[in-house]
Amino acid sequence: MFFVKAHKNCRTSENSLDALVAECGKLNVKTVRPYFELFKEELFMNSFIYHIPTKVYFGKNQLGHLGEELKKYGKRVLLVYGGGSIKKNGLYDKVVAEINKAGLELFECPGIEPNPRVSSVNRGASICKKEKIDVILAVGGGSTIDAAKFIGAGTYYDGDAWDILTGKAAVTNCLPIITVLTLAATGSEMDDCGVISNPEAKDKLGFGHPLLRPKVSFLDPTNTYTVSAYQTACGSADILSHIIEVYFNMDKDLAMLDSVMEALMKTVIHYAPIAMKEPTDYEARANLMWASSWAINGFIDGGKSQEWSCHPMEHEISAVYDITHGLGLAILTPRWMEYTLDETTAPKFRQFGCNVLGISSSLPAMEAAKQVIQKLADFFYKDLGLNSTLSSLGIDSSNFASMAKKACGGGILHGFKPLNQNDIEKIYRMCI
Ligand code: NZQ
Ligand code: ZN
Repeated sequence: MFFVKAHKNCRTSENSLDALVAECGKLNVKTVRPYFELFKEELFMNSFIYHIPTKVYFGKNQLGHLGEELKKYGKRVLLVYGGGSIKKNGLYDKVVAEINKAGLELFECPGIEPNPRVSSVNRGASICKKEKIDVILAVGGGSTIDAAKFIGAGTYYDGDAWDILTGKAAVTNCLPIITVLTLAATGSEMDDCGVISNPEAKDKLGFGHPLLRPKVSFLDPTNTYTVSAYQTACGSADILSHIIEVYFNMDKDLAMLDSVMEALMKTVIHYAPIAMKEPTDYEARANLMWASSWAINGFIDGGKSQEWSCHPMEHEISAVYDITHGLGLAILTPRWMEYTLDETTAPKFRQFGCNVLGISSSLPAMEAAKQVIQKLADFFYKDLGLNSTLSSLGIDSSNFASMAKKACGGGILHGFKPLNQNDIEKIYRMCI
C-alpha cells in the first residue's frame, strides 16, 4: 500500500515505478527496500511550477491606482458587484469616482448573488458582448469575483456559460479581471478558479483555468470593516479549510510549506475572533485578508497532490440548500476529521495539534488527534459562534445519497483518505 501511494505521488519516473508497484503484490518489504532507496528522492518530492501573476495593491489608500490599472486594458469597464453592500458602505462611490477620473466608460452588472448563479453570469456576458467591454472590475467578495471570471470567459463563448463549468465548452479566452476585495474568505482575488451555482440543476460546480486569474487585485483591509461578524466567521472557516485541505495530505513535500501553512492557520485562529469583536481592528482585518489570498493562490500547494475532500462535500450542500459556504465547511470539517482518523493518519493530526493548537507533543498520536478535533470544533462553534449541525439549518438526510454521489463523481475522492459515496454519506449523517 505504501508503495502504491508513493507511486501515485511520483509522476516523473512512472515506468520504473510501475514495475515496482506491480512487484509489490508479490514481494515482501525487504525485497522492495533497495528499489525504494533508489527512487526515494523522486518519491518524496514532486516537481511543480510556481506562477502567481496577480499584481496586488495591499493596504489603505491604494485605490488611487485603480484608474491607471484599468486603462492598461482599455476604455470600457464593466463594474460587477453584489447585492448592495458596496453602496451602503460608500465603496461604490469611491470606485466610480476613480473610473470617472480616469476618463473611462462605465457599464454595470449589479445583483450577483452569494453562491452566484449562472443566470447572472450569462447576464454579465451578454452585456460584455453587446457593449464591447474591455475589462471587468469586480468589487465584492468571492461570489462577485467568481461570477466576474465566468462573465469574462463567457464573453468568448456563444452559448450558456454553464457549458464551461461542466467542461462541455473550453475556455478560449477571458476578459481581463481586476478586483477590489471586500471580504476575506475565498482567495478568488488571487486564484484561477471560481464556483457557480445552477439552481435548476441543483448543482454547484467549480472550474479553474489560468486565464481566469485576476490581473490586479486591490486588497484594502478597511474595505472589510463592514463585514458582519457572521460573514467574518464563515470567511475565516473557509480560509482555514483551504489550508487544511492541502495540509492534511499523506504526500511528503517541502517541510517549509507545512510551516507556512501552520503559521497561516495560527493567524486565522488568532485574528478571526478579534475581527468579529472589533470589526475595525486593522491588524486583524489585514492579517485575515492576506491569509485568505495565500491560503489558495497556489503557493502552499508545492508538489502535493491536490484532491480536496471537504470542499466537494460542501459544494453539494450549498448547491441544494443555498447555505453559506464557510458555514458548511465548519460543520463538515470536524466530522470529516473524525471519520478519517486512524493509526496511519493520526501523526498528521498530532503535528497540527502541536504546531497550531498548542497540544502537548508528549501525547500519543491518537490521543492528540482526538484533542485536535475537539479543539477545532470548539473554535468553529464556540469562538466563531457558528451552527454545529446541519439539522439546526433545517437540513435532513433526504438528499444525502444523491449529494454524496455527486461529491465523489460516482467514484472516489482521493483526498487525505479515499472516500467513496458510502463514506461521504456517513460523514453527512454525522453532521445531522
Ligand atoms: O452581495 P454583497 O452586497 O456583496 O454582500 C455580501 C454577501 O451578502 C456580503 N459582503 C461582502 N463584502 C461585504 C459584505 N457585507 C458588508 N460589507 C462588506 N465589505 O457578504 C455576503 C457573502 O458574500 P460572498 O461574496 O458570497 O462571500 P464569499 O467571499 O465567502 O464567497 C463565497 C462564494 O465563493 C465560493 C463559494 O463556494 C461561494 O459561492 N468559493 C470560491 C472559491 C474560489 N474562487 O477559489 C473557493 C472557495 O472554496 C469557495 O468555494
Ligand atoms: Zn472554500
